[in-house]
Amino acid sequence: MKMFGRSVPLRPGALRPENLGQHALAMIGNLCFSLFVIGVLIFTIIAATYEPEDPLFRPSTKITTFLTSTSNATFKSDDSVVKTGEDFMPVNQTLFESFINVTDVENSNLVVEAVGEEAVTAVSNECEGGRLSQPIDCRDPEVFHLMMKATIEQFKDIHFYKFGKPVAGLNESTCDMAWRFRPKEGKAAAFYKDYRRFVISRSEDCSLSIVSIGEYHTGINARKKKKNQKGFEKKANKNEQSPDSLPVVGEIVNDTLPFVDESSFSQGKYLIYVGGGDRCKSMNHYLWSFLCALGEAQYLNRTLVMDLSICLSKIYTSSNQDEEGKDFRFYFDFEHLRESASVLDQDQFWADWEKWHKKDKLSLYLAEDFRITPMKLLDIKDSLIMRKFGSVEPDNYWYRVCEGETESIVQRPWHLLWKSRRLMDIVSAITAKLNWDYDSVHIVRGEKAKNKEQWPNLDSDTSPDTLIATLGNKIEEGRNLYIATNEPDTTLFDPLKDKYSTHFLDEYKELWDENSEWYSETTKLNKGVPVEFDGYMRVSVDTEVFLRGKKQVETFNDLTNDCKDGVNTCSASSS
Ligand SMILES: *[C@@H]1O[C@H](CO)[C@@H](O)[C@H](O)[C@H]1NC(C)=O
Ligand SMILES: *[C@@H]1O[C@H](CO)[C@@H](O)[C@H](O)[C@H]1NC(C)=O
Ligand SMILES: *[C@@H]1O[C@H](CO)[C@@H](O)[C@H](O)[C@H]1NC(C)=O
Ligand SMILES: *[C@@H]1O[C@H](CO)[C@@H](O)[C@H](O)[C@H]1NC(C)=O
Ligand SMILES: *[C@@H]1O[C@H](CO)[C@@H](O)[C@H](O)[C@H]1NC(C)=O
Ligand SMILES: *[C@@H]1O[C@H](CO)[C@@H](O)[C@H](O)[C@H]1NC(C)=O
Repeated sequence: MKMFGRSVPLRPGALRPENLGQHALAMIGNLCFSLFVIGVLIFTIIAATYEPEDPLFRPSTKITTFLTSTSNATFKSDDSVVKTGEDFMPVNQTLFESFINVTDVENSNLVVEAVGEEAVTAVSNECEGGRLSQPIDCRDPEVFHLMMKATIEQFKDIHFYKFGKPVAGLNESTCDMAWRFRPKEGKAAAFYKDYRRFVISRSEDCSLSIVSIGEYHTGINARKKKKNQKGFEKKANKNEQSPDSLPVVGEIVNDTLPFVDESSFSQGKYLIYVGGGDRCKSMNHYLWSFLCALGEAQYLNRTLVMDLSICLSKIYTSSNQDEEGKDFRFYFDFEHLRESASVLDQDQFWADWEKWHKKDKLSLYLAEDFRITPMKLLDIKDSLIMRKFGSVEPDNYWYRVCEGETESIVQRPWHLLWKSRRLMDIVSAITAKLNWDYDSVHIVRGEKAKNKEQWPNLDSDTSPDTLIATLGNKIEEGRNLYIATNEPDTTLFDPLKDKYSTHFLDEYKELWDENSEWYSETTKLNKGVPVEFDGYMRVSVDTEVFLRGKKQVETFNDLTNDCKDGVNTCSASSS
């Protein structure tokens, strides 16, 4: 859309770009942004999570965790992963206490509940004529019972919340069953779904036994489409947490683009942000800006018209070039966004706009200066408000709209933004392969290890010999150890194999290679063009697997006394 070519006028008395080098300007931008982010983050997090009636509310820990992960250095093209809404959800522990245990299954009351409408018939264990040779009936309550019991007994590090009715598997002696669970020691507020294939045998006396339970997500016949929960988030009472308002990793994702009924398009009110200097910046910058736009749209009670095509910064690409044309849905949960906020894809929007704006006399209000606050736009009646951003950084960053007096009025709706469930499913598959029972260590090396001036000890502190010594005090010998690292040559850590069973992200390549579900789904999203598992996805998955370890050892503080952001930054970045 090149309809509005005017540039944003400079504020009188503002720094003039011609007086400054591009470099200096960018630096000022970074610095302002950094300082600003710290300040506003504290505020936003307090505001967003402040629920005094919640006894589990622990603001200081939340803020600390958040700031540790998004220190000002993060915004200076660090490759770390920003936290998203699900990481800050206040967790209603009551919800998680009601898991299903073996006693419940033995007492059988659960079976009735889970089977639902079907009455549970008395099970006869007699070996009547012919029964021996019959196929296993997966719908038989006895079979269900047995499968649940075997599952609970086999997976000791997770809690179960719901079992689905088994269905026939591949052949006469297999049944598929799904369940909802979460890791016993998990802190995040998500549920997970697994479905596996069970091989069942019948012995001479007709008693049944489970021969084996398949790998993660093998029971594909038991995988069912989630019911449409459109709008639940909007209606849900803020203080009432139901299992359905939490992310469920492992469900089928339906993140098709929303559309507006032809008949109601003209009644709608829309907000769009156009242009600006945010493109191809770090993902953290992108989110900071995007959530400002979304916050404004919610404040104005308008539909946000968004560009789902994002530019991936070169800090995450293997080509070391900025890459255009990445889909928002590769990284974030668009289904959740679509269901809990009013958003539209811009291509769709412009097509409808073309069709209706003349006929229905739809009007547009153009705001070309970020200092026109959202509060001033409240009374605008035009169908579309377009914020147009110029070409001079940093005044053309979207997030500037949310600065100043707006800060206290428009809040960034972090809760609307969750990580891609397709990526989280990869995380879940990896942790399942490790049986939810592993310790993890995050080893930062890369450029930082080479820079002896800023990180004098990092290289030696993360060398294999030192690691063996340091980890020896923290992690028991023989444990599964997941190593999240930016060190490209993982053979460097070979000496650790003497003491631990080590695991790295690349061991699990099959979860995103050509035969994977992730690959086929993202290819479909991307109009048939295969999607690279890029640097941001890698770090995302690596970080999340790390965070699910039972014992977690971080580089900074745990392995080295060097500061995360270089010499003498410890007080600023870690506390
Ligand atoms: C981070 O921000 C603080 C102020 O909040 C500043 O003192 C410090 O120098 C910054 N760190 C870096 C590495 O720029
Ligand atoms: C299972 O839960 C019941 C209460 O729901 C409890 O009485 C029982 O001890 C639990 N059993 C096990 C094995 O944890
Ligand atoms: C059914 O499939 C399972 C798993 O693939 C296999 O172990 C079993 O032998 C098969 N049973 C029959 C009767 O073919
Ligand atoms: C937590 O969940 C339980 C069960 O869903 C509900 O009864 C309770 O009111 C909830 N508590 C809070 C503080 O939301
Ligand atoms: C996905 O969701 C959209 C919107 O809720 C719906 O119209 C569509 O039928 C769904 N697609 C599938 C395959 O379920
Ligand atoms: C928001 O807009 C919808 C229709 O666009 C309207 O029905 C609703 O009353 C508005 N809510 C507020 C709080 O203005």
